[in-house]
Amino acid sequence: MKSYHQHTAYTRGGLGGHFMDHANQPWPFKRYQDLEARSLAQPELNEAPFWPLALAWPPPPWPKAPALAEADLSALLWLAAGLNAQLGSGIYLRAPASAGALYPAELYMASQGLEFLDDGLWHFAPDALGLDLLRPGAPAGSLARALGGQPRGLALVISGIYWRSLWKYRTRAWRYCLLDAGHMLANLELAAAAAGLDQELHLEFADGSLADLLGLDPDREAPLAALWVGPRLEASASHAPEGGWQPPAEQALSKKEGSDPAILQAREAGVLDKPRPEPVWPQPVPPARALKLAPVPPAEGPGLAPVIAARRSRRNFLQEPINPNEAALLLAGALPAAAACRARVLLHGQEGLDTGLYEYHPGEMALEPLEAGDRRRRLGEASLGQLWVGQAALSLVLWADLGAMEDQAGPRAYRQAMLAAGRIGQRLYLAATALGLGCCGVGAFFDEEVAQVADLPPGASPLYVMSCGAVKGGLGG
Ligand SMILES: Cc1cc2nc3c(=O)[nH]c(=O)nc-3n(C[C@H](O)[C@H](O)[C@H](O)COP(=O)(O)O)c2cc1C
Repeated sequence: MKSYHQHTAYTRGGLGGHFMDHANQPWPFKRYQDLEARSLAQPELNEAPFWPLALAWPPPPWPKAPALAEADLSALLWLAAGLNAQLGSGIYLRAPASAGALYPAELYMASQGLEFLDDGLWHFAPDALGLDLLRPGAPAGSLARALGGQPRGLALVISGIYWRSLWKYRTRAWRYCLLDAGHMLANLELAAAAAGLDQELHLEFADGSLADLLGLDPDREAPLAALWVGPRLEASASHAPEGGWQPPAEQALSKKEGSDPAILQAREAGVLDKPRPEPVWPQPVPPARALKLAPVPPAEGPGLAPVIAARRSRRNFLQEPINPNEAALLLAGALPAAAACRARVLLHGQEGLDTGLYEYHPGEMALEPLEAGDRRRRLGEASLGQLWVGQAALSLVLWADLGAMEDQAGPRAYRQAMLAAGRIGQRLYLAATALGLGCCGVGAFFDEEVAQVADLPPGASPLYVMSCGAVKGGLGG
């Protein structure tokens, strides 16, 4: 996995030219040949406030999970993966950010015991705001064998279709599939929490069994993350849909679908035969000189739903420092708990939070100063010359020692690290939007240069860069 990441590092002079065949661009919606989506009720967006959800993570369990109505399910799916804007070119933008707006991530659902929906395995069709029924029958028992954990009435599975991203990013596309899936996962988790649904994340599942259940061809599309939500089911209620099932035929994504052996190899390396517990990643103790942050959210903060709806990638940053409380809120909202990757912070600070390079310690909400001085312009240059990165008041360089993680948990750890980075990225976008700030993910960078700018320890790799801060004209601009 480390070798895949190193192999796909961008280097100055090593980018070469890449012809993008627009006539063969993959279609961003998955369609089945003989299925018509069952449309869902209009989403009923609740008023759950953003900051309490974002800061108290993992969400405390509700004494009794509320029953889900169809409009609540519709809201959950729309907030996780729905369409919410359209560009002049006709391209739809969605709730989660996506590298190049190529949307490799798909969302599937297993439902059992819902009053308004047949038991079965479904695919979410964002363009129809509907569900394609892939396989009728009670799925929770088979799913539990693939995922682990005790079955619940609802499970959501996020996948990645390599070709969508590969078309533009070539071998580096596996990175983007994982980051994009992490972005969708963050929205899904927050939306489930806003609906008061208990949830349990599973990243260490049996890949083959889960792909078989959903009818996915692992050479084209891999399941990447799964979330059980809602109340647990009685063991007796969980029967498997029996075998002999043919997945519904898909429509082609483009005239000619490409593939990449290095991506297949990277995916294959991390495959598990059976589910296993989520790893616990060791976290360093912050030194005594680290600054303890105490973020205070605004008294009248916005709701999660309007924040997700208003989130967009914004790059027109002003040369303005960030105020310390906003910096603390951005970090606590994006990184509410220890994760499978770590965060360097490049700050343009003020009022006691000086401009400089820091390491953020999520568990303790502590910023460890590493070096004073402004490295942001260098980060812009290292981000393939995207100089707006250097204007942003706060940038994160999400990083990991992939070799050490692999020693602990095997090659599956790569997925954990990249999914975590995407998840943090989406949460940073949302936290910035809630504060009226702009934000943008940066997946395109010269890896070694970013490692130098962020002063990463030997053996560590940058996974993802995120930039945020005040933008010209505010969020309406
Ligand atoms: C993993 C990832 C990497 C991205 N990398 C870049 C980047 O390098 N440069 C950039 O300008 N935008 C980047 N973006 C932002 C996307 O272009 C943007 O999310 C997409 O166009 C959809 O627009 P929206 O975020 O406004 O919904 C990235 C987004 C993601 C999720």
